[in-house]
Amino acid sequence: MKRILITGVHGQIGSELIEELQNRYGMENVVGVDIKERPSPTSGICEIVDVSHKTGIQNIIEKYNIDTVFHLASLLSVKGEKKPDLAWDVNMNGLKNILDLARDYTMKVFWPSSIAVFGPNSPKKNTPQSTVLDPNTMYGITKVAGELLCNYYFEKFAVDVRSVRYPGIISYKTEPGGGTTDYAVEIFLEAVKKKEYTCFVGPETRLPMMYMTDAIKAALDIMQAEVSQVKIRTSYNLTAVSFSVAELVIEIKKYIPEFTCHYAPDFRQNIANSWPQVIDDSEARQDWNWEHRYDLSSIVKDMLVKLSERLNYV
Ligand SMILES: NC(=O)c1ccc[n+]([C@@H]2O[C@H](COP(=O)([O-])OP(=O)(O)OC[C@H]3O[C@@H](n4cnc5c(N)ncnc54)[C@H](O)[C@@H]3O)[C@@H](O)[C@H]2O)c1
Repeated sequence: MKRILITGVHGQIGSELIEELQNRYGMENVVGVDIKERPSPTSGICEIVDVSHKTGIQNIIEKYNIDTVFHLASLLSVKGEKKPDLAWDVNMNGLKNILDLARDYTMKVFWPSSIAVFGPNSPKKNTPQSTVLDPNTMYGITKVAGELLCNYYFEKFAVDVRSVRYPGIISYKTEPGGGTTDYAVEIFLEAVKKKEYTCFVGPETRLPMMYMTDAIKAALDIMQAEVSQVKIRTSYNLTAVSFSVAELVIEIKKYIPEFTCHYAPDFRQNIANSWPQVIDDSEARQDWNWEHRYDLSSIVKDMLVKLSERLNYV
């Protein structure tokens, strides 16, 4: 990795990944693009580009002599249900543009898939790497098709594309981006600000989750692995912890005893119900030594400390 491009840089993951890559590789060697304006705290090279327009991306690759792409630009599950045509366009054509350019300019690519590839008939417990993939959201459909496209470009054109199926990602620096697991971020914000939260899924809803520090580590670990270690070129199952909302509330109450969570499940409950509760990521652990660092109690402790500092509630 010498000259790195991050697409979707101003999103939940991109805005933290850019800082880590700038620290490791230098400000001048990391370029971010997004369709929206740069939020004020971001520094470094950022340009406005739509990933569904190939020439815009191509111009950036040539201008900055890019050799590695972290392709994060996407519409997530909830936004995708509201705008399915746009989700198809951005998620599929954006990925195909990046893969075509990776083939033509010999670039290495990281592209995250999601637990949204699973659907109502996928096993919910210890969901294996290879199993039924029958998502019923446009987002999930683009992730399944995207995984197959990545594998195709690897097999047919030797594009070195690497991917993980991220679970829900918990972080405190940005607002979540319109996904079904957003409740696991919003609950912390509201716990600190109002001591009260109304959750859009029920208390027994259990989904695989990961702290942002681990999500960034996974992206860097798989990108730094030897070619021979990356044996799956669709996408690796990846997880850290699985907990229900009720279990999360108990953990938050250890720090904020007066915190109350109300429940008002909406259409997002159906999406959550179609996803696995616990997934088996043993192949990632075996092939490229994946290890997570944060469990539920360390996530909750760190989130509440960092959010309280950020929101000046200390
Ligand atoms: N956050 C999670 O919990 C999670 C879980 C599983 C997978 N993922 C995947 O990780 C990736 C990044 O997710 P995120 O949470 O940072 O998403 P996000 O919604 O927070 O950020 C996505 C970014 O992409 C940008 N974008 C949208 N359309 C674009 C376009 N046409 N051209 C350029 N930029 C565009 C948006 O402006 C936004 O800044 C996505 O592929 C997502 O599917 C995220």
